[in-house]
Amino acid sequence: MFTPEEFIRVITGEIRKLNVKCAVAAVSGGVDSTTSAVVARLALGDKLIPVLFDTGFMRLNETSEIINSLTGLLPIRLIDVKEEFYRAMINMSDAEEKRLTFRSTFYNVLSRVVKDNDCDWVIQGTIAPDWIETTGGIKTQHNVLAQLGIETDKVYGFKLLEPLKDLYKDQVRVLARFLKIPSAVTERQPFPGPGLSIRAVGRLTMEKLEVTRWSTRIVEERLSGLGLSQWFAAVWEDNRTTSEELSKRIKDLGSLTVDVFSIKGTGVKGDSREYGSVALVRGKLSSWSDAFNLYSRLTYGTNVTHVIYELASKGASGGYFAAIRAVVTDDYMTANVPMLSESLLSSIADELMSNKLINAVGFDVTPKPPATIEFE
Ligand code: XMP
Repeated sequence: MFTPEEFIRVITGEIRKLNVKCAVAAVSGGVDSTTSAVVARLALGDKLIPVLFDTGFMRLNETSEIINSLTGLLPIRLIDVKEEFYRAMINMSDAEEKRLTFRSTFYNVLSRVVKDNDCDWVIQGTIAPDWIETTGGIKTQHNVLAQLGIETDKVYGFKLLEPLKDLYKDQVRVLARFLKIPSAVTERQPFPGPGLSIRAVGRLTMEKLEVTRWSTRIVEERLSGLGLSQWFAAVWEDNRTTSEELSKRIKDLGSLTVDVFSIKGTGVKGDSREYGSVALVRGKLSSWSDAFNLYSRLTYGTNVTHVIYELASKGASGGYFAAIRAVVTDDYMTANVPMLSESLLSSIADELMSNKLINAVGFDVTPKPPATIEFE
């Protein structure tokens, strides 16, 4: 059984033996990176420099909310690196390319901060599912290097310490509560390192990024307090073509049509990553509960990774499509879609439709597998 006291005793002992001159901890405000920084600070005291990068892919007001919630716990320095990330990533389309570019930009920035402060170590909040999925080829998690054989001291000029690398999310939360990290952090839903850059699906533009930021705020507010594990919005161009083949597969569930978007979305099939089609089901279902059965019909034996049920549409094509994503999970390696009511989802869709740039809205009804929680 996991006991936080014993974990802290062992890990701080190990950190003290490392003879660290000075370490930079890249904190994102999430439970993993914050907890790893707090644990490292127990061993290193003022030799630890916690930093928060504003990558430009954060949610509305997120950086100031993080700094405020950690006041008194970690003396965080905010470093504005928006321009560097925008220069590297705007106009990029492919999911893996975005992730790889985010990772290299992130470590270049980190390496500069390490040098500027004359440090020799970096503390990072990698946890077990991060490297299991990255080494398994499911996706490139932004913070996984050592497990891929990347020697950070040779490439980036610092040694890497990952105090939580053998823990799972529920154990990290137990540890965080034990360390009296505020509930605004421990109970915060996970947010991917590359942030909104991978939720503005497909070609990354400033406009799509801003629509994603705006939609995220609405979905997060409207679905909070329901006991979900993760809930957010993803946005892409509303370009689609109808698939007769896929439409036939669900004709007994109502008068339904299946479209396929021009963007692609990530999934997991078997043990490997799939970068496949995102399907949209539109029309009237015989029963709302059938929405949650659509995915098996449309993903089995096809390259479809995400199935979305359309909640609202302005009819004409063009503009953006906003997807509402919500999952319940214990370990984020698999996840289920909660049976939210149609009226709740439709009212969120109506709010999103008030944005003149949004043409249609839907709810992702695909569990993991075959989808991933994110779209990229
Ligand atoms: P997927 O989309 O692979 O996501 O089912 C599983 C969980 O991991 C989060 N995630 C990330 N977290 N850096 C992170 O720190 C990343 O690059 C990253 N990519 C995905 C995702 O939000 C979900 O909770």
